[in-house]
Amino acid sequence: MAIEAGDGALMDSSRVTGVLISFEGLDGSGKSTQLELLAEELRGVGLDVVTTREPGGTRVGEAVRAVLLSPAHTEMAPRAEALLYAAARAQLVEEVVRPALARGAVVLTDRYLDSSIAYQGFGRELGLDDIITLSVWATDCLFPELTLYYHVSEEERSGRNNGAADRLEAESGEFFSRVETGYAHMADLHSHRFRVIDASGPVGEVYRRTRAAVNEEFGWLGTGAAAGGTRSGGPVVPAECDLEGHGTV
Ligand code: TYD
Repeated sequence: MAIEAGDGALMDSSRVTGVLISFEGLDGSGKSTQLELLAEELRGVGLDVVTTREPGGTRVGEAVRAVLLSPAHTEMAPRAEALLYAAARAQLVEEVVRPALARGAVVLTDRYLDSSIAYQGFGRELGLDDIITLSVWATDCLFPELTLYYHVSEEERSGRNNGAADRLEAESGEFFSRVETGYAHMADLHSHRFRVIDASGPVGEVYRRTRAAVNEEFGWLGTGAAAGGTRSGGPVVPAECDLEGHGTV
């Protein structure tokens, strides 16, 4: 099927064979707003777009989310926390993500397995290897094709946060700096799928960066040299399922 790209050029939507894009970053990085803006624009050019979030996105996942984020659960053990995030993700992959990818949709997820690597692997210091192993098992090895990591300074981030803190948001500054280290580590280790987006400045400016990064990869919205992108979607690189060589914390 031919559909119109943003610049009026025609593209072939049959080229899109199911793509998973994850949005990552600390609370206050603005990733959720960026996800919504991208979803709207991609729908506008005729793509089948599914948006979801973690933890949650399913009935089971939302129930697990309530357990995970309740500020009352101060006694939760780090390993229990890691398993609950993985459980919510397993349900999401099975119930929402894989069926959507199978019909050729673009799935945009607000957080995915890199959150577990950053928050549980580094923040809770459970270790990179165990959390990758757990995530690979929970998702039956479904990695995103593209991960947009929104990075913003501590000052700007805390200025954007409001409302009551959930259990994770109540963590210390050292915890969040370990989480940032975790993301930086993954951006390096999986540089083939990670794009670090400067999330400072107004929403519109950040969106231009989001749009450019996505377009460079897939060419869904592009003009000129960017049209067509460098990738066409499809199954995730099987090499990522090889548990060797991820390094250690
Ligand atoms: P949420 O309100 O969705 O936060 P945000 O708006 O920052 O995305 O809460 C999710 C919280 O759970 C957030 O603090 C990050 C944390 N988290 C983990 O620690 N591990 C994970 O695997 C995931 C998916 C989230």
